[in-house]
Amino acid sequence: MDDLFSHNSHFDPEQRIVKLRLELERHNELYYRQATPEISDAEYDKLFRELETLEKNHPQFEDANSPTRRVGGSPLESFTQVRHLVPMLSIDDVFELKDAPVPEAELITFYQRLQKNLGRENIAVTIEPKIDGVAVTLVYRNGNLDYAATRGDGSAGDDITNNVRTIRSIPTRLASESPPPLLEVRGEVFMPNEAFAAMNAERDEAGLPSFANPRNASAGALKQLDPRIVAQRPLAFLAHGLGAYDGPPLDTEHQFHQLLDRLRIPRNKPLIDAENLTELLAAVAKINIERHALGYGTDGAVVKVLDRNERERLGFTSRAPRWAAAYKFLPEQQETVLTAVTVQVGRTGVLTPVAELEPVLVSGSTVSRATLHNQDEITKKDIRIGSTVLIEKAGEIIPAVVKVIRHAPGSSAFSLHDHVGGKCPSCGGPISQEEGFVAWRCTNFQCPAQAVTRITHFASRKALDIASLGESVAEALVAQRLCRGPLDLFDLTLEQLGPLNLGSEEEPRRFGEKNASKLLEALQAARGKPLSRWIYAMGIRQIGEGAAKELSRLHRDLRELAHSPILEELRRDKSASAKKKNALLIPHAITGDVATVAAESILAFFESAAGKNVLSQFADHHLDPQSDNYRPIPGDVDFAALPLSGKTFVITGTLTLPRDEFKSLIEAKGGKVSGSISASTHYLLSGEGGGSKRDKAIELGVPVINEDQLREMLG
Ligand code: IVH
Repeated sequence: MDDLFSHNSHFDPEQRIVKLRLELERHNELYYRQATPEISDAEYDKLFRELETLEKNHPQFEDANSPTRRVGGSPLESFTQVRHLVPMLSIDDVFELKDAPVPEAELITFYQRLQKNLGRENIAVTIEPKIDGVAVTLVYRNGNLDYAATRGDGSAGDDITNNVRTIRSIPTRLASESPPPLLEVRGEVFMPNEAFAAMNAERDEAGLPSFANPRNASAGALKQLDPRIVAQRPLAFLAHGLGAYDGPPLDTEHQFHQLLDRLRIPRNKPLIDAENLTELLAAVAKINIERHALGYGTDGAVVKVLDRNERERLGFTSRAPRWAAAYKFLPEQQETVLTAVTVQVGRTGVLTPVAELEPVLVSGSTVSRATLHNQDEITKKDIRIGSTVLIEKAGEIIPAVVKVIRHAPGSSAFSLHDHVGGKCPSCGGPISQEEGFVAWRCTNFQCPAQAVTRITHFASRKALDIASLGESVAEALVAQRLCRGPLDLFDLTLEQLGPLNLGSEEEPRRFGEKNASKLLEALQAARGKPLSRWIYAMGIRQIGEGAAKELSRLHRDLRELAHSPILEELRRDKSASAKKKNALLIPHAITGDVATVAAESILAFFESAAGKNVLSQFADHHLDPQSDNYRPIPGDVDFAALPLSGKTFVITGTLTLPRDEFKSLIEAKGGKVSGSISASTHYLLSGEGGGSKRDKAIELGVPVINEDQLREMLG
């Protein structure tokens, strides 16, 4: 791998750019297609960033097919249409028949028609899996990806070049010294099953609607106008056909495949040859078994006449070639009974309902559970306990409930909330459903199912800033049962932490005494951190840093927050005007409906058994964080009657307290503090110094006051 990481003395940016592009594409190919990377991710990133910088500094060498474009360029307003060079036809379906004496009857009829039309007994065909994806065409001119398009109506489709560039297994430049002048490759964009399952699990966890199957997810991704979104979806591509072509003659399907291999365009496999009908039937049977191990969704076998001259003789109907057929396998769906619903609590507290099923055989394996995603899905399909349901494997791997066949007598609609008794099944903590989100979530700060996420957040910089406690340490603490929640951290000892294994059983990696004592020191320091950081560290939904500050302004400690009359009032008086809510929580970090929701969630938590338990654990651990910005506001203030109401202050010079303190004092009495002085400023609070603002105040006739005078005004 020559001198890629070292520069020579005569630096030529263009040469370097070209070289980096070639190398990065080669590494893409090694990583995404061969799964045999030669360099580390970090080394790849380094080269990638170097190319990015060079391209930015030398825009004259811009190239749409540069590997840097694979992370997604700017969003489009809409897709432009491209006319296909050769129509993108579909294939006629022939179906595997259910409960028929000869399930392959339609396939046999297709073959007999070939025999008749070509006047021969044995016609060589190829058989390959039919990928359940989205048809896409790629046009390469002189070895460069010119554009990519969807099928559309068959004669014109959407130009989705920017989206397709994000699919790393598709070469944007062909690996050949002498590529054909024009090569149009047709194939399927799809999502591998595992990647699809992982993405859906992530979406469930984030409270986002999940995709029904990998095909929908792929189609949805390609329709995105913003390629950066597409870049995050795990799409893949396999070629299966030839469109327009100008190059050395290709007489058979095999020659076409050899060309694809030479150009490193990924192609559909396996490809089986059959010389006669018997071999054809054996081949489709084989594909029907092997397809389940492919790792992506397939729903049939495509049969194509091998010889390109014979294809020409057979020709086309108005919608499809006469030389090909898609043999559609019986859908892998089965009826079974949904016996129970269990609920899993994810790492971020999302409750995911799971159907427990009478075990049945589907697509080659036994299925006894299927995710129901969330309450919305259950409601949409009216899934109930005891129902007979139709299940399938979405893309052959993830079992899904398609629909209800019939309900059990006397059954009623399923409510996830009632099913778990309004409590987290993992810890008994309260659950809530945020507006606009489908997911129910456990809000308990000490929920063991969420321990890793909660501990990581607890230790994050803006929370209690425990630098030596990252995600991997949190993972190890939870996995090795040393912590079930953030507060357990305060029980840890040097003896437990030193030998903590951060690696695996095969490859252990010790946390070590030095790191352990650093962590213990940081935890000790956390005890003294202000209430606002602790509130933020508790990871209450809706309560960010700003809101946490406001809450600590209104409460001295956690006990006060837990029984807050101010929050009580907000919760009670849902219809209170925004003005009143603003008056209660000054200055405006928590306002309007957010205030009500936040008040509700905080109080509901502390009123719950889990919340009371958290409070007593605080006491047990002698944790009692104090507010460092406490400025209470009386419950129901008449805002207009406050002494500084309507008055604007500017602060300058050196004072005896930090400026923020004075700001809080003024705001607590209804005043406002502004950064710059103008004719509408009422007072300039000035300490030592304060030169230019003081001059300006005098010039504008704004009264200049000192600290004592302000104290008098505050009463
Ligand atoms: S060959 C003239 N081979 O299925 C069309 N198509 O239902 C030749 N498909 O439009 C297409 N896997 O998008 C072919 N192995 C495969 C395929 C395949 C999936 C799609 C393709 C086609 C559609 C027809």
